[in-house]
Amino acid sequence: MSFKPGDVNLGDPDQLLEVGLPPHEYLAVLRREAPVHWNPAPAKPIGGAFALDKGFWVLSKWEDVNMASRETDRFSSWLGGPLIYDPKPDAPAGSPYALDGIRSGLMGKDHPEHTAYRKLVSAGFTPKNIAKLEPMIRLHAKRIIDGIRDADDAEFVFQVAAELPMLTLCEMMGIPQSDWHQFFTWGNQVAMVEDPTIDALQVNMELWGYCQSLVEQKRKNPDGSMLSNYANKEIDGERLTDAEINMFCVTLAIAGHETTRNTTAHVIRLLSEHPDQRALLLEDLPGRLPNAIEETLRYSPPVVQFRRTATCDVELRGTHIKAGDKVYISYASANRDEDLFEDPDKFDILRSNADQHLSFGAGAHFCLGSTLARLQLRTILEELLVARPQVHVSGDITQLRSIWFNGMLEMPVQFAAAEPVGL
Ligand code: HEM
Repeated sequence: MSFKPGDVNLGDPDQLLEVGLPPHEYLAVLRREAPVHWNPAPAKPIGGAFALDKGFWVLSKWEDVNMASRETDRFSSWLGGPLIYDPKPDAPAGSPYALDGIRSGLMGKDHPEHTAYRKLVSAGFTPKNIAKLEPMIRLHAKRIIDGIRDADDAEFVFQVAAELPMLTLCEMMGIPQSDWHQFFTWGNQVAMVEDPTIDALQVNMELWGYCQSLVEQKRKNPDGSMLSNYANKEIDGERLTDAEINMFCVTLAIAGHETTRNTTAHVIRLLSEHPDQRALLLEDLPGRLPNAIEETLRYSPPVVQFRRTATCDVELRGTHIKAGDKVYISYASANRDEDLFEDPDKFDILRSNADQHLSFGAGAHFCLGSTLARLQLRTILEELLVARPQVHVSGDITQLRSIWFNGMLEMPVQFAAAEPVGL
């Protein structure tokens, strides 16, 4: 199919399911012909918890996505929030679907509030503290893989990929084991913001109420968990408010879950589609796995975009962006920018600059969980590919209907070697 700018509406989840999610061929046309492109609001409602009734500028070049992520004075996360959606007029004040609720989270703040808040929550995510979690993460990963050690087949997304991120979060936050299953269900549901069948507001209120009661418990019985520290400790004389702690829990339930799960699934999907790359990887699994993960993040980012809002008039590549305009920063496109990545549509686990992808963002809002995500991905994939090196996709994949996440709802796999094509 040959595209021209305007042929695909990046705000229409149904069209994306048809043309490709992310629509890489279309994004290549934008980079070439309209690197700062006006995408009007989609004609029909997107469904789910948000509306999308205003159009936006799409930035598709790596340099521009990087610049807009870093130049927080001109491209704000606070003004319109970091999500490309528009709040519905009836979204309850303070909820994660109303602008004031979004702004109370870390992602929805600008400097100096963002810097102060990030300092308070970042202690749990330093490389030193994340390294301490490795034995716990390894234990869970081994148990998950033990569950499929003798299996012939499985549904990969929920049976294998989803568990580790959620269990890690439960452990880090000090959630009692009896509540893990419930937290897992909430986590799955809050990430599906465009699913009209889920009452996202209700789920969020339940999750919010649960976090609140947990914070109270941690005040009575501190246990050294991350949540307990947030609830009890002052950092430089500052303490997080209950609303900030609760909003941070909701953020983690979305940000720390869907993303790592889908990247795990994308690695297996891509190895199935590229047997030569699987062979290369298995020749030296510990040595090559970290770069294979970076290349997967570049090639198939689990989060395809975030939003900024222009704080002033901006001239970019000859196009005038007005103060107040919405700006869509396309990680999916930036990661395939031919100015930076040679042969960008090739999946190459030995690519020397794979880690220059922007899948974790850039600048002040750079993903707080990147070290944790990389550790989880390395651990589960090592365990899996040692135990079941030939795991491969064996049927149709069901993609998540979303303009935000490049996710999967179902991916059937078999564990024995695939039959060579043609035999
Ligand atoms: C492969 C996995 C992941 C990907 C691709 C990813 C992607 C991203 C991106 C693109 C941003 C930047 C948002 C912006 O600029 O507006 C971000 C921010 C963030 N991520 Fe991740 N993420 C991942 C895993 C995680 C995990 C495991 C956690 C925590 C458990 C986490 C927590 C956060 C938080 C708290 C922020 C907000 C940082 C801030 O605003 O200062 N992420 N992530």
